[in-house]
Order: sequence, then C-alpha cells, then structure tokens
Amino acid sequence: MSAPSGAPAATVRVAVIGAGLMGREVASAFGRWFALLDCPVRPELTGVCDVNAAALDWFRQVPTVKHFEADHRALLARPGIDIVYVAVPHHLHEAIYTDVLRAGKDLLAEKPFGIDLGAARRVRAEAARLGRFVRVSSEFPFLPGAQRAFKLAASGELGRIIEVRSALLHSSDLDPGKPINWKRQNRYCGEAGVMNDLGLHVAHLPLRLGWKPARVHAQLQKIYRVRPDGQGGSVPCDTWDNAVLHATVDIGGEPVPMSLEMKRMAPTETNTWLFEAYGTDRGVRYSTKEPKTLWTYRRDREQWWEKTDLGFDMGYKAITGSIFEPGFPDILMQMWAAFLSERAGLLGGRFGCATPDEAVAQHEIWAAALASQREQSVAPV
Ligand SMILES: NC(=O)c1ccc[n+]([C@@H]2O[C@H](COP(=O)([O-])OP(=O)(O)OC[C@H]3O[C@@H](n4cnc5c(N)ncnc54)[C@H](O)[C@@H]3O)[C@@H](O)[C@H]2O)c1
Repeated sequence: MSAPSGAPAATVRVAVIGAGLMGREVASAFGRWFALLDCPVRPELTGVCDVNAAALDWFRQVPTVKHFEADHRALLARPGIDIVYVAVPHHLHEAIYTDVLRAGKDLLAEKPFGIDLGAARRVRAEAARLGRFVRVSSEFPFLPGAQRAFKLAASGELGRIIEVRSALLHSSDLDPGKPINWKRQNRYCGEAGVMNDLGLHVAHLPLRLGWKPARVHAQLQKIYRVRPDGQGGSVPCDTWDNAVLHATVDIGGEPVPMSLEMKRMAPTETNTWLFEAYGTDRGVRYSTKEPKTLWTYRRDREQWWEKTDLGFDMGYKAITGSIFEPGFPDILMQMWAAFLSERAGLLGGRFGCATPDEAVAQHEIWAAALASQREQSVAPV
C-alpha cells in the first residue's frame, strides 16, 4: 500500500481499550489494511486492554499486539502508542478518555462520547486544552448510499426541503427472553438509553449538513420493564427502549420537520440505518435494508422515483471489485482511513469522522428529548 503520491504509507501505532464487540472489529479492520490502495497512513495494532482476561486472549492471535493489560493505565504507560481506540461501557467513557488524552495520546472515542451531556462537554474541553486529535466512531455515513444521499442533500438540488427522516432500528429486544446487559441499564448506558446507544448514528449526517434541531418533542418508551439476568432470575430494565423525536430544524431560514428515530423494538429491523430528505425539486432515500439501492425522486412534468444500484464506490479505493457490495467491515475500514488521514492533515476533502462538537451536539438533542419527555412539552435544544 502506498500514499497517493507514491510514498510509502506512514505507520502509526494504535492500542485498544475494551476488547469486546467493537475492539475485535477494529483488529480485523487493521488485519486487512492492505485491501486499501490510497490511504496515506497504515495502522498497526500494538496493545490491548480489557478487565476480562478471556477477551484479551482473543487478541493473542494478532501478531502485531505486544502489550496485553488488564488496567488501562498500565497500557497507557507503555511506550510506542500514538493513538488509542476506546470501546468500553458508557459510564467509563469520561474517565478513560480523559486518561488517554492526559497520557499524550490521540483518541478515536466510541459513541456516545460520555454518558451524558456534561461528560461529553468535559472530554471535549480536555481534548481542546491538551491539543489532542479526537474523533468519534460513526461508520454508517461511509456507506456509498449514505455518501450519495449526503452529497445530494448538501448540493441544494433538492429545492426547498420539506421534511427529513433519520433512523437506526433494531428488533432483537422484542424477545422478552433476551438477557439484560449493560446497554439496557441506565447506570451503565446513561439516562438517555437508546439515544445514547444508537443516537450518534442517527444525528451524524443531519448535524454534518448543519441541520441541528432548534426544538424537539420526544416520545420515549420503556416497553419491557424486566429482563432475565442470565442466571435464572430477572432484574429491572430501566432503559428507554424506543425514542421518536419530532424535531424542528432551520433549513434555509425555514422551519422544517425532522424525525429522528432510535428503536430497539422495531419489528423485523436488524440494524436498519436510513436517511431520507425530501425537497420541492428532488428527494433522496437510502436504507441499509436495501443496501445497494439509492432511491432519488425528481419532479418535471411528472414525478419520478428512480432506483440506482450502487457498487463499491468508497472514499478510499480498495482492491475490491467496483461492482461488489460493501458491508460493515468495509465501512469500518473507511472510517478508520478517514480518521488516520485527517489526523495526518491528509483527508483531502473526503468525508471525515464525527467530531467532538458533533458528539456534544447530539447529547444536547438527547438532553432536550429527556426534558421534553419529563415535562410532556416541546423542549428547546
Ligand atoms: N460504532 C458502532 O457501530 C458501535 C457498535 C456497538 C457498540 N459501540 C460502542 O462501543 C462501546 C463498547 O461497546 P461494545 O458493544 O464493544 O461493548 P462490549 O460489552 O462488547 O465490550 C466492552 C468491553 O469493555 C471491557 N471493559 C469494561 N470495563 C473496562 C475497563 N475498565 N477497562 C478495560 N476494558 C473494560 C469489557 O470487559 C468488554 O470486553 C460503547 O461505547 C458502545 O456504544 C459502537
């Protein structure tokens, strides 16, 4: 792999704190980095930390990993680490992100970037004080369909925007026998519940388009109040399962309705991410339910929905054939390529990862949604 200039890609050393679902995905993305053809930076995974020894053991098959630690402070004290990716439960974000920054490392943080708005603001302030490069993980916008929808929405070609919808929908919680986990308990996930869990995925594109709601009416639902504890008993489940936010956003000086939906109980939906924006002249609709398909609307004498099959049209070129379908591991690589390039000042006009400002802005929306729910009113953001 070489940089676009033909120069060899610079290597940076990355460590992971939190070797669960997402920590392993990152190791896998780095393991096939040679699939990318024009990323100017190459990551090498050198260290991993998890309080669970079994989670650490999985990483022993990754040849570049030299440091295995149960305490993140021991990992951060190791020499030869430039960047840390942290994927731990939300109640630990603030303390561990802050320790990473104070250890002089750059950070790819996981969403929601702190358990609540206050935590997000404090982490952002500490990063700014120390001058560290920080971005937040949100990979769906790197899908070719999401990029096409984003570019069309940003182009002005839609005409006057009539309405916007952005959603991330899951369904596995419909099973009342699914055991509880940390994401379904407020003290670990945060009071915002499903908004903390799925919300940045939903807010990222609207915020990047400058479509930050001015006010919001939230409908939050707790659907199953208890769940199995996995050991034969049951425990309270106090999380918000589903959130529908009816927001008003200023677009071109006009108030526009925007719906933000985050649901753990949307029948039949398995990680369905969708973005829709309708205007007076054109419209766009993209959903991972139809992952290859971009729907666009146009109006001339008649009104048309047009359907385009998308290939592997990514920000960073890859060995993958242009007609092949991208999946989650591919967009994770694209997101990391954007993070590493932007950190090196080499993003070159491509789409960049979610910023600390965007992560704080999403928390401002969820804080307003909680106030709206509490007071059964429309809350200012
Ligand atoms: N970007 C995405 O698409 C996406 C998807 C899922 C989760 N996430 C986010 O990633 C983060 C982690 O979620 P997950 O699904 O990987 O969770 P997980 O439960 O699978 O993994 C978390 C890991 O953190 C470890 N851990 C707990 N305390 C620790 C500590 N003090 N030090 C080191 N390790 C510790 C746990 O042992 C576990 O292995 C969360 O912020 C979550 O919101 C992002």
